[in-house]
This record gives sequence, structure tokens and C-alpha cells, in this order.
Amino acid sequence: MKKNIALLPGDGIGKEVTKEAVKILQAIATRFNHKFTFTEALIGAAAIDSVGDPFPPESGKLCRSSDAILLGAVGDPRFDQRHPSGMSPEQGLLRMRKELGLYANIRPVKSYPGLYNRSPLKAQVLAGANLVIFRELTGGLYFGEKKRSADSASDLCLYTREEIIRIAIPAFEAAMQRRKKLTLVDKANVLETSRLWREVVREISGNFPGVEVDYLYVDNAAMQLIQNPRQFDVILTENMFGDILSDEASVLTGSLGMLPSASIGNKVSLYEPVHGSWPEAAGRNIANPIGAILSTAMMLEYSFQLPLESAWIHRAVEEAIQAEALTLDLNPSGGRSTTATGDFISNFLLHENLHSV
Ligand code: NAD
Ligand code: IPM
Ligand code: MN
Repeated sequence: MKKNIALLPGDGIGKEVTKEAVKILQAIATRFNHKFTFTEALIGAAAIDSVGDPFPPESGKLCRSSDAILLGAVGDPRFDQRHPSGMSPEQGLLRMRKELGLYANIRPVKSYPGLYNRSPLKAQVLAGANLVIFRELTGGLYFGEKKRSADSASDLCLYTREEIIRIAIPAFEAAMQRRKKLTLVDKANVLETSRLWREVVREISGNFPGVEVDYLYVDNAAMQLIQNPRQFDVILTENMFGDILSDEASVLTGSLGMLPSASIGNKVSLYEPVHGSWPEAAGRNIANPIGAILSTAMMLEYSFQLPLESAWIHRAVEEAIQAEALTLDLNPSGGRSTTATGDFISNFLLHENLHSV
């Protein structure tokens, strides 16, 4: 199989983790006789610095003409306070999501037995936790009209029925393939948008009688997520709640560096780790590359329909966990570098007998 992948490393550790993710895709290509071609483009602070635009038109063009997009992360403290240019690296990411119509962000979270002792939560709470967050990605507070005067500011939270339907359906479909439970997380006791989400989800649930539907307020959900994570299968939620809950859910795995994601719309899909550019770690070769690596497993499964290859990446990551070939966040006494962790996973894929996944 031949595929063209747009590679957008972005900023900070984004550059380091995407390098390892590419290494893994190349190992898969070698072992399974595929050809993956990578073409690099700019996004984030790197793009502002070189061309004065956080998501330049050439990057958009490359993304639209590729079979999939692999992204690292964006963000640079130089732009944390309002930059004189008025630009920010994050605007690049948001514009990319909007322009490419990537409305469904899928963030799977599972706890690995070999990492139970790396989480502040007890092993008995973590055992068997396996959930996926369907986060709406192109609406809500992030994209509503913003207003600012000297003494007041506002961000509009707007959702249409159509925007809710188009993410709710794939979330229900995912639940059908999993443990058949869907939890809508909202704030319907306060927010009108949440009341619309409930109404629409209740209607759609009629078409999925096999799926048990739960409705949970986000404050309660934030607590339940670490009190009793096993109760969750598919969590469906709006943009901002999904952003916050997914970082929280990463505690179930032991590190934010473990979480992958896929952002899906009607055309090309984007794959990126859930974490950010972790500026303090940039250039130090200490960032965990597994979130980025597992994002490539999602790419193989969702964009290229290669479930076997994807399963092998999962298997290789489990080997790394078992061998403690892990970065400092998960192995404080003997942490390996980003590169060495990627090498371990890639070497496993290059040398393992591939008949036994
Ligand atoms: P961050 O995700 O970059 O880092 C938060 C903490 O998580 C770090 O201090 C570190 O302890 C841990 N962490 C993150 N990635 C890790 C990895 N690969 N391995 C091990 N530990 C890891 O979040 P932040 O510090 O709030 O934000 C930094 C910048 O990143 C900001 O500019 C923010 O806007 C941006 N950001 C970008 C994305 C994205 O590109 N998708 C996502 C989140 C944040
Ligand atoms: C994420 C990030 C982004 C978001 C930021 C960088 C705009 O936190 O991808 O989770 O809030 O969506
Ligand atoms: Mn986030």
C-alpha cells in the first residue's frame, strides 16, 4: 500500500515525538511492504517565525492533498501573552481543525497493568479501565464570537443540532463495537447548549436501542472518572469539556504522554498526541513518544484500514511497558530517552516474528 502522509511536527517536543512516530511507521512499512511518504509542513510558532502565519496556506494545501496528517504539538511561551503580531501558535491548530472540518476528536484511554504503579490512583481502581472520549472539535466556546472591551470579555458557546448529530452518530457506532454504553457529559442543569445536546442525543439513542445511555453533569463526571473509571465506555462531550476531561483521564495511564488521538471529518483525518509542546522539555530528549506512536496506530486503523499493522504497534508498546523501556515520566529511576524508547518499539517491530500478534 502507498500512502502520502503530511508531517506537521510543530513546536517543542512535537518535533521529537513525531520523529519517533515516523520511525515506527517506517518499521511497519518495512515489515509489511508498504510505502509511506512523508512531506513536512509548518504549523504553530515554527510557522509564525518562518512565514508569519501559524497555519500557512501551503500547509493547508499539503494536508488536503495527503492521505493522512501526523501532527506533533503547537505552543511556545513567547506567545503566551498577547504577541505584538496578535498571532498565536494555537490559532494555527484551531484554524487547521476548522478548515479541514475535523469535528470529531477521538481520544482512547486505557490503563496498562504494567503501569498501575505509575498512577497516583490505586491499582484496584485502574484495573480494566478502558474508555474513549468523543470530543466535539470545531464548535462551542472555542469558535463562538469573541468580544473584548477594556473591562469585559465574552466567548459565545453555540451549537447547532447538525453539529451535535454528526459527532453523536459515530460515538454511538463506536459504542456498538465496544461495551455498548455511552455517557453524555454536559452541564444541562445550567447551559442551554447542554440541554440541546441532551435532546439530540436522546433522539439519536432511539436508533441505537442496544446502547445504554447515561447523562452526567461534567463536575460529577470529573470526579467519577478517577473514582470509578471502569463504568465508562464511550464518553461523548462538547469541545471544552472534552479537552479538560481527556487530560484528567490521562492520569489513568500514568502519563499525559501516553494518550493518542484521531481527529476525523469528512475528508482527510489528523492524528496527534493529546499532550502539548511541553516547552520546558524541548530539545532534552525526555518526552514520552508513546502518545504520538499510538496515534500512528490509529492512523493505520482509521485512515488506511490496516488493523493488523495497528495491532502490532499496540503489541510493541506493551512490550516496551513490560521491558520498562520507558521515558522518565513512567520510569523515574531508569528513564530512557525519547529516541531510545522509539528505538525499542521500532526494533521490536523490525525483528519480531509477525505471525503471532
Ligand atoms: P503540555 O501537555 O505541553 O504539558 C503538561 C505537562 O504534561 C508537562 O509538564 C509534562 O509533565 C506532561 N507531559 C506532556 N507531554 C508529555 C510527554 N510527551 N511525555 C511526558 N510528559 C508529558 O501542556 P501545557 O504545559 O499546558 O502547554 C504547553 C504548550 O502546549 C502551550 O502553548 C499549549 O497551548 C500547548 N498545547 C498544545 C496542544 C496541541 O498542540 N495539541 C495540546 C495541549 C497544549
Ligand atoms: C488540545 C489542546 C488544544 C485544545 C489547544 C492547544 C488549543 O489543548 O489539543 O487538547 O484546547 O484543543
Ligand atoms: Mn488539551
